[in-house]
Amino acid sequence: MKEKLLEIKNETIILINNTNNEQELLKVKADCLGKNSKLNDIVKELKNLTDEDRRIVGKMSNDIREELENLIKEKLNSFQSDKKSNLLFDVTTPIDKNTGTLSPITIVSNEVTTALKKMGFIIATGPEMETEHFNFEALNVPATHPARDMQDTYWTDEHNVLRTHTSPVQARTMLKYGAPIRMCAPGRCFRNEDIDACHENTFFQLEGMVIDKEVSIGNLIYVMKNILKEIYRKDVDVRLRPGFFPFTEPSFELDIKCLICNGKGCPTCKNSGWSELCPCGMIHPSVLEMGGIDSKIYSGFAFGIGLTRMAMFKYNISDIRVLNSGDIRKLKQFGIE
Ligand code: DAH
Repeated sequence: MKEKLLEIKNETIILINNTNNEQELLKVKADCLGKNSKLNDIVKELKNLTDEDRRIVGKMSNDIREELENLIKEKLNSFQSDKKSNLLFDVTTPIDKNTGTLSPITIVSNEVTTALKKMGFIIATGPEMETEHFNFEALNVPATHPARDMQDTYWTDEHNVLRTHTSPVQARTMLKYGAPIRMCAPGRCFRNEDIDACHENTFFQLEGMVIDKEVSIGNLIYVMKNILKEIYRKDVDVRLRPGFFPFTEPSFELDIKCLICNGKGCPTCKNSGWSELCPCGMIHPSVLEMGGIDSKIYSGFAFGIGLTRMAMFKYNISDIRVLNSGDIRKLKQFGIE
């Protein structure tokens, strides 16, 4: 009988080890420890044994039952904790629809850079905290220049500035790559502004620059029209008005024919038929020279697109503060999923 008991024990251990889930395990438990189990058959026979044998075999069968029950309990626990950890990674759980979205600014930035990349532009970057030299001086804006007043910004104790525009990337790229070059630089800029629905101290621009032999204003207009076609999926008329920037000569303001009234005049374009899009111009020879480029051989044009303005225009956003709020509920209003 002792051998029989050991045999039952070993068989049951194998059966327990081979179970793959809770149900299989509970079945083994019922089969091997239940009323009709082989182990119970032995207990039923105990009455036919001598007192001495009954005591020994009885104790042995109790010990084996206890050992098997413990084994089953352990295995059951391991199935249950597997189940819990599987739940953490349950790939069938429906996705939370409240995930984030691309910001309207990122979307327009991607559209503009996609158009520019097709025309051979590289994407360049520069630091958001700039030196006074790159933010102003390398762009023909010395300390005494009145243009500095328009670009009041935040200074650090080491006399660096939070860049007021993406134009410093022009100067950095000239020094790094030389000419010829086509580059664009989207990025965050800062100015000391009183914040309201139209003004933010943090906003986005995209700088563009082309330097080559015999570059003309005609090339500038071609590039701008191509960008607009990519964004609005149709030909858009543009015009240039004279402007002033210390780092371009001549400087212009580029307007687009109002997309709402198609030039007839409406409240959006203040009845002029045109909307201001971006300042631009032919790069000033001194800026080229400061960037290490021979202005007698090379010329170039540059433009600065206000990405924040462009996103507000595209998505009809009337309050600039929404864009930096990071509030998904508000961004969802624009139907960007
Ligand atoms: N950096 C100027 C600003 O923020 C905008 C600008 C004007 C950029 C003319 C240009 C440019 O590249 O050619 O006010």
